[in-house]
Amino acid sequence: MSHCCSCHGSTVASRATQILKDEHRVIEGVLDSVEQMLRSGRIDKAFFTSALDFFRNFADGCHHHKEEDELFPVLEAAGVPKDGGPIGCMLNEHEQGRRLLKRVSENLDGAAGGEPAAVAAVQTAAGDYISMLRFHIQKEDDVLFNLADQMLSEAQQKAMIEAFDRAEQHNGDPGKHERYLKLADSLRKQAFGVG
Ligand SMILES: [Fe+2]
Ligand SMILES: [Fe+2]
Repeated sequence: MSHCCSCHGSTVASRATQILKDEHRVIEGVLDSVEQMLRSGRIDKAFFTSALDFFRNFADGCHHHKEEDELFPVLEAAGVPKDGGPIGCMLNEHEQGRRLLKRVSENLDGAAGGEPAAVAAVQTAAGDYISMLRFHIQKEDDVLFNLADQMLSEAQQKAMIEAFDRAEQHNGDPGKHERYLKLADSLRKQAFGVG
């Protein structure tokens, strides 16, 4: 299992972008699990509630928080345009993700109760979220993080890793990161079966 957080000490990342890439792999795993559950055609309320928890608190909370508060401002200061450029595009997609998660959440009770319109709304919003986030992650990995690696000095990467660690430790819940890695694992087992 890969560790996606430098503060756990088992993997010492030398680049802040590597920490974000490792988190992408965890997020992609949960996207695969949700896609698998959607294929079954059944809306399992407990599964989707846990998946929403993961996307809101790990993907959007922990991960996007690092990008929006630490990486993007440093890139912007280094000259990467925000409006009309790659940073603005990434921020718009984070917002789009929040709207899609809200639509899943609002329709989940109805869908779990078998209401056809709510089932369709959950399937469409979750499907759109999966496609959007996969492509978003690919753009960050292949374009924006490569750009960051070219632009940021070793000292800037190191300072950013320290800022990520502070964000992890000071959110009032130091075990949060590890708990969400376990949740990702549990969702995979629920979707694909154990073993
Ligand atoms: Fe992002
Ligand atoms: Fe990301």
